[in-house]
Amino acid sequence: MAVATLVVAAGSGRRFGGPKQFEALGGASLVEHAVAAATSVSSEVVVALPAGRLESIDGARVVAGGATRSESVRRAFAALEGRPDFVLVHDAARPLAPVSVFERVIARLAKGADAVVPVLAIPDTVKQVEGDRVRATIDRSTLRAAQTPQGFRYDVLRAVVESAMDGTDDAAVAESLGYEVVVVQGAPRARKVTTRQDLHELVGVRVGFGVDQHAVSRDPGRHLVLGGVRVAGAGLEAHSDGDVVAHAVADAILGAAGIGGIGDVYRDSDPALRGADSMALLRGCLERVWERGLRVAQVDVTILAERPHLAGELGSIAANLERVLGGSVLVKAKRPEGLGALGRGEGLAAAAVALLEGLLGDES
Ligand code: CTP
Ligand code: MG
Repeated sequence: MAVATLVVAAGSGRRFGGPKQFEALGGASLVEHAVAAATSVSSEVVVALPAGRLESIDGARVVAGGATRSESVRRAFAALEGRPDFVLVHDAARPLAPVSVFERVIARLAKGADAVVPVLAIPDTVKQVEGDRVRATIDRSTLRAAQTPQGFRYDVLRAVVESAMDGTDDAAVAESLGYEVVVVQGAPRARKVTTRQDLHELVGVRVGFGVDQHAVSRDPGRHLVLGGVRVAGAGLEAHSDGDVVAHAVADAILGAAGIGGIGDVYRDSDPALRGADSMALLRGCLERVWERGLRVAQVDVTILAERPHLAGELGSIAANLERVLGGSVLVKAKRPEGLGALGRGEGLAAAAVALLEGLLGDES
């Protein structure tokens, strides 16, 4: 069964405040996310973009859309090269619609349906109003919110685009032409981005915490390195370069990602790590975080040091960490006020909190 998907992305995003389909979400634009899901189930993907912004998109053929959504669907349909059995129509404004929804729509078409719409039940009580007056309370048990991708037999969508009817919902046109439209389960992740707030709600956050400390070394050959920045002062005892800041930050980002700590990524006893540049280790940990689709949004670090006095170094330590991690980094220093081993200047400690951002978790 050949399936083609038309991704409509030619809107102006009036309510968003700009063409939202080009907004970035976790490393790809909204329209790229929508196309990526579509390509995994389609032999052909056509994207309608605004006539003034015909950028190329991996895995899809790009055409200029029209002044209305229906017109964009019409133009994308006209650009189909093949003659697929089924055609799906999908909004770029639903970037995280899971592939499982596409599959449910296609499976239902294959069982025999003119058109298929993914829907969600409506959790709120629904009122019909006139001005500020409630006219009726609707029985919500029979109501569903329509999503995309909506699926059509090829000849059904051809009839839809050939009819002069315009609407924000292709299946509605099929209904009014007398076709039988059926529903399948949609997904919360397939919800439409209309406002900037909707986009923020597709992003989840994770928080992590890390601490590290090392003893001051008597070896005059060892240098003090904090967040990859060489600082005047006694070096620290460690298998690696003893960068307590890099280690605390690594633990914080790995903890936030649910991976664990630096010891879960590197073995302390690994001879290859003798004297290792801890910023290189931090980069390795960061890659593990990125693999999980997470990005560093913010890191806050406190260094506990009786000496050296670090005020003049904090800005460059933060800048160096920012360069590697991305996001925004703040580094502070505190004196332990003479208390305990740190207070006697026998070692240095650092603590870090990391906030990571990623796309909403597992599909639901
Ligand atoms: N769309 C389109 N061509 C149009 C209008 C809309 O391809 N002339 C697409 C949008 O890019 C979006 C989808 O249809 O992917 C749903 O439309 P909507 O959420 O209304 O997006 P916009 O029209 O861009 O936003 P607004 O209505 O706030 O201007
Ligand atoms: Mg619109």
